[in-house]
Amino acid sequence: MWKKMELEDIKKRVFGAIDQNVNFYHDDILGVPASHLDSKVFYQDEPFLKNAPFLATMVHNPNHIGCHTLDKSESFFQGTQAIEREVIKLCSEDILKCAENECDGYVASGGTEANLQAIWIYRNCFLREHVAKHDEIHLLGSEDCHYSMPKAANLLNISWSPIGVEGESRVWTRQSAEKAVDEAIAQGKKYFICVANMMTTMFGSVDEIDVLTEVLEDRKVPFFMHVDGAYGGFFYPFAQPQSRLDFRNTHVSSITLDAHKMVQAPYGTGIFLIRKGMMKYAMTEEASYVEGQDSTVIGSRSGANAISIWMILMMYGYYGWQEKINTLHQRAQWLSQYLDRFGIRHFRNPFSNIVTIHADHLSAEFAHRFGLVPDNHHQPEWYKIVVMEHVTLERLDAFVAALEKEIGS
Ligand SMILES: Cc1ncc(COP(=O)(O)O)c(C=O)c1O
Repeated sequence: MWKKMELEDIKKRVFGAIDQNVNFYHDDILGVPASHLDSKVFYQDEPFLKNAPFLATMVHNPNHIGCHTLDKSESFFQGTQAIEREVIKLCSEDILKCAENECDGYVASGGTEANLQAIWIYRNCFLREHVAKHDEIHLLGSEDCHYSMPKAANLLNISWSPIGVEGESRVWTRQSAEKAVDEAIAQGKKYFICVANMMTTMFGSVDEIDVLTEVLEDRKVPFFMHVDGAYGGFFYPFAQPQSRLDFRNTHVSSITLDAHKMVQAPYGTGIFLIRKGMMKYAMTEEASYVEGQDSTVIGSRSGANAISIWMILMMYGYYGWQEKINTLHQRAQWLSQYLDRFGIRHFRNPFSNIVTIHADHLSAEFAHRFGLVPDNHHQPEWYKIVVMEHVTLERLDAFVAALEKEIGS
């Protein structure tokens, strides 16, 4: 498991990595359409930058175009790319239990891109290896899955349908999974790309992945299984170590994580992880001027994003991260117990820090006062509380006190 590092060692490592990249300030780099950040606005010599490795990386402006776990990458930025490779290794092996060096991946713009990347790869694999037609490829995910799934189906010109979930448990059942698969088969769909949630956006619910794989195996249809852990990927594996939604499950081919959610990294820190051998289906050979070519949706991207994720994870270490998640988990349990005591209908997966309250109990004004997010802004049925770092017990206590008044009045 990854070890906590001292701040001074973190700084040394990041500044050392920057030194291994080309230096636009001092080196003869004439051929790339890139440079350090504009020096009239972002001064390289600001004294505070010496103590700010992430900001210093931003000013140096490395471009992490491409995927650096593959054979070859742009050699200009090899120092900071090595740190990105460590992030991919740590997330895929220490958190998501992949065997050593069995995973590729990269830091994407966000969860949407990482989900899109997975679906793009599987679609291309079906097109190439099975000579599938676009209208034979179908995307399946739960009714509660993120809207990036229908977005991806639309972009990639494949069909999509949601699998219904039970109102109270928010899980799909054998019956609803069979219904969705059989309806798609009846419409001529032969190849399936499936997404299982490791904590959904609105409910923090976790899909019963084995139920769906059993149905697909019964029907003998080829399929790929992607796990969307954009919200839950840095939480659920720590709260529930027996998870079926990681690489120990041989059906799981790829996983999305998002460091700009639970990890509190800057935006632009989605993480895409996939078993080795699959990135080739996203390789754009026409990217011939890029060393190693490009197998990502995004193209150019800031190397500073990978540095920010690495720094945060190193400041904690595995056990520090476990403690942080335990604290958030306990706060969510605390809130849930109060809601039970008040008889308020709500949903919380026992291993989650999202508490979703039925709108019957709350006025829109009350929800607005506490910044609760509705499932639907036009006709809210549910409001969620996401127990992040700033959602302390003090704040939850004030919420609970106000709620007691609201329901008593
Ligand atoms: C489960 C899940 N997947 C994907 C996404 C999309 O992430 P992003 O907004 O970073 O593209 C979100 C965002 O909330 C999410 O909760």
